[in-house]
Amino acid sequence: MAQQVTLDFLGDLRRTHTCGALRASDEGKRVVVMGWVYRRRDLGGVIFIHLRDREGVTQIVFRAEGDADLHGRAELLRSEYVIAIEGFVEARSADNFNPNIPTGEVEVVAEKLWLLNTSETPPFPMEEHVDVSEETRLKYRYVDLRRPHMQRNIMLRSHITLAVRQELFGQGFLEIETPFMTKSTPEGARDFLVPSRVQPGNFYALPQSPQIFKQLLMVSGYDKYFQIVRCFRDEDLRADRQYEFTQIDLEMSFPQEETIFGTIEPLIEKVCKVAGYDVKGPFPRMSYAEAMQGYGIDKPDLRLPRFWPVEHLFPADAGLTAAGLPLVAITIPKTGALSRKERDELKDYGKERGLSVYDDPKRLERDFAEPMTQVRALTGATENDLLLLAGWRGEPKGQRPEETVFQACGQLRLFAGQKYNDRHGLLDPKDFRFLWVLDFPMFEWDEEDQRWMAAHHPFTSPNDEDIDKLESNPARCRARSYDIVLNGVELGSGSIRIHRQDVQSRIFSALGMSLEEAKSRFGFLLEALTYGAPPHGGIALGLDRLVMILAGETSIREVIPFPKTAKGTDLMCEAPSPANEKQLRDLGIQLRRPAQ
Ligand code: AMO
Repeated sequence: MAQQVTLDFLGDLRRTHTCGALRASDEGKRVVVMGWVYRRRDLGGVIFIHLRDREGVTQIVFRAEGDADLHGRAELLRSEYVIAIEGFVEARSADNFNPNIPTGEVEVVAEKLWLLNTSETPPFPMEEHVDVSEETRLKYRYVDLRRPHMQRNIMLRSHITLAVRQELFGQGFLEIETPFMTKSTPEGARDFLVPSRVQPGNFYALPQSPQIFKQLLMVSGYDKYFQIVRCFRDEDLRADRQYEFTQIDLEMSFPQEETIFGTIEPLIEKVCKVAGYDVKGPFPRMSYAEAMQGYGIDKPDLRLPRFWPVEHLFPADAGLTAAGLPLVAITIPKTGALSRKERDELKDYGKERGLSVYDDPKRLERDFAEPMTQVRALTGATENDLLLLAGWRGEPKGQRPEETVFQACGQLRLFAGQKYNDRHGLLDPKDFRFLWVLDFPMFEWDEEDQRWMAAHHPFTSPNDEDIDKLESNPARCRARSYDIVLNGVELGSGSIRIHRQDVQSRIFSALGMSLEEAKSRFGFLLEALTYGAPPHGGIALGLDRLVMILAGETSIREVIPFPKTAKGTDLMCEAPSPANEKQLRDLGIQLRRPAQ
């Protein structure tokens, strides 16, 4: 229990400065500051308090030779007590300067103290980085969020959000809201459903994105829509995924891909500036096919070099990869020689993904001197770099088998790159390498359901020249979609949409959706497309991911005030939680299994 102390009322006491405001030029001013007791040093005659609010820290000094009563009360102060101080600003002597904080040249000599509230001892210290489990941090999130580190992240998020609004308003966009209680918008995840009380047995779906509504807004003539909007997806949670997350969502009428890039690049430049980084567009572009053949992934991390398909350099009977499939040369620069154990680990990692990994270039050079000279020329690999060759071990796999090989090689490249990053600093988190990836495939094969799925979403326009392949060769049909990628993270995704009803119906049918099903799920959209829908397109950026990277974090949970755990739990409010009998009865819901 906190000590029994008398608390004061705030009354009409007004704060004159935040805890981050005072400078040497304020010397002599009478001020009132308020905040939390951060650190306390009691030197007997003098008590120093570091007073903290979200703007910073100010040193307060209580001197015994002044007011003994005041000094006595200051002795009662403990960590995280909430106080107000009236006093005057004094310059600190040169040997007392604190160069680590902006207010370090001054201190406030306390004359009055208001004790506004006490605090239990916090479950963990209010330090920049604390050695405490994420569970404890999330259970006491309101305390965790008080730490300077978290306050910087959450404030950065707010500043970035403001910059996004300013930039988009500046570009002539309108901010328009769309409903949360609606019908399913397919983005590849499960929906969260909300039961209707007045229509028992019926459910609203929370939107996975505002996709359909923003398209309808284009039909209605609201060119240049944007929204900073919460989206809801029931999918497995990861460091860069939450059930509810925020998109910077926008849509335009009559755009080409270039129009979208020309909107987003200045937005990114501005946002990076807010975070203190200088980034300049235009960003490099790469087709999906190039990304696959060079990186084995649709979100290449350009901080590591690309890999190279090299099977054509080797004799057909070299036996390094399965017939007709790629052999790939992967280099990771400046790793130096790896130990036997490290190389075995890379080989095992590749093997688990279907690859034969050749980790000894010297040996390969003995057997394939000329091809290996060419491999070295192509990759630029030196003696100090890691050079691996990887081929496929077994039968071809998947609808685009070469892609399966490239994907496995991409994983190996990242594994090796990240593994030796610590030793060699290859992956500088502040080296921002933005990239547009274009020309995605229109469809992806779903092994589980044995059918084609929309690679982006079913409202994406096929490439004009691929429209004829929709039914005959869906595997090779490309889409007018694009992703913006940053250091291996998919930041955003968008496309030019289908604005013609006949094409939209063909896509639904290529996705194996009957006319009845298409009508029941998206009839209103199909109908809207017949009422003068303009060509349109757009994009959505993940705000959480953008802030995460700019804040130097590796999980979006660090930039979301109240996130869920990996199991989808809010540990603080203990959600989800059972509904009571009356709520269920009102909703006409009977549980198949009683709640645990
Ligand atoms: P997409 O589904 O690619 O596209 O989503 C766009 C961006 O939203 C972010 N994102 C997420 N962030 C955190 N947690 C999640 N569970 C999560 N899911 C997605 C990513 C992603 O790039 N309607 C389309 C956009 C369009 O075509 O305009 C859409 O939602 O950063």
